[in-house]
Amino acid sequence: MADTPLKVMGLSGSIGRQSKNGMLVDLALRKAQENGAEVHFWDLEEKPLPLVGEKGCWSNPIVKEFQEMASSCDAFLVSSPEYHGTMSGVMKNTFDWVYDQHVGGKVFGLMSTLGGISNSNTLNHMRIMLRWLHANPVSQQLAVGHVKEAFDDDGNLADDGMTARLDSLVASVLKTATMYRNM
Ligand SMILES: Cc1cc2nc3c(=O)[nH]c(=O)nc-3n(C[C@H](O)[C@H](O)[C@H](O)COP(=O)(O)O)c2cc1C
Repeated sequence: MADTPLKVMGLSGSIGRQSKNGMLVDLALRKAQENGAEVHFWDLEEKPLPLVGEKGCWSNPIVKEFQEMASSCDAFLVSSPEYHGTMSGVMKNTFDWVYDQHVGGKVFGLMSTLGGISNSNTLNHMRIMLRWLHANPVSQQLAVGHVKEAFDDDGNLADDGMTARLDSLVASVLKTATMYRNM
């Protein structure tokens, strides 16, 4: 068990890997992979989760697959766009498909992107929500403001300070998840 790599799941509150949040989650997962983790990006374009409550949702096989994947993971790297001062509906619906039994006691790293000036609203709202799932977000977090200008042509964060914060967030998630595993 000690030699098994940590399993980390990436969740984006925007649909598609080419969205800024998809790109940010990908960057974080790449960093986690460089540090020895096994990573899984849940791509809503390939595997869309139904809206909670819509007809047929409770028996949707994609939901079962999503929940099984979440259950098998040690940690999560999550990014949501800020919409009207909080997380996107897509992000909330994604979280509404997991319960304590899937993510309780597990480690989360939180990120958000904003069209305007950076703030912590979405991060704080996700933190509060995670209490209800008995999950443990690390204290480091990342809010990327003016997101249209935040990435360079290679898809990396243009600001070195932001990259350092992302690296520190990922390192903290991996360190905490390793600690939990060895407890
Ligand atoms: C419905 C909607 C509401 C938004 N509300 C905010 C907001 O409250 N604050 C802000 O800075 N940007 C806001 N934006 C801009 C988004 O945060 C921005 O487009 C997003 O972070 C880009 O990420 P994406 O490429 O993953 O969609 C909003 C965008 C939409 C579509």
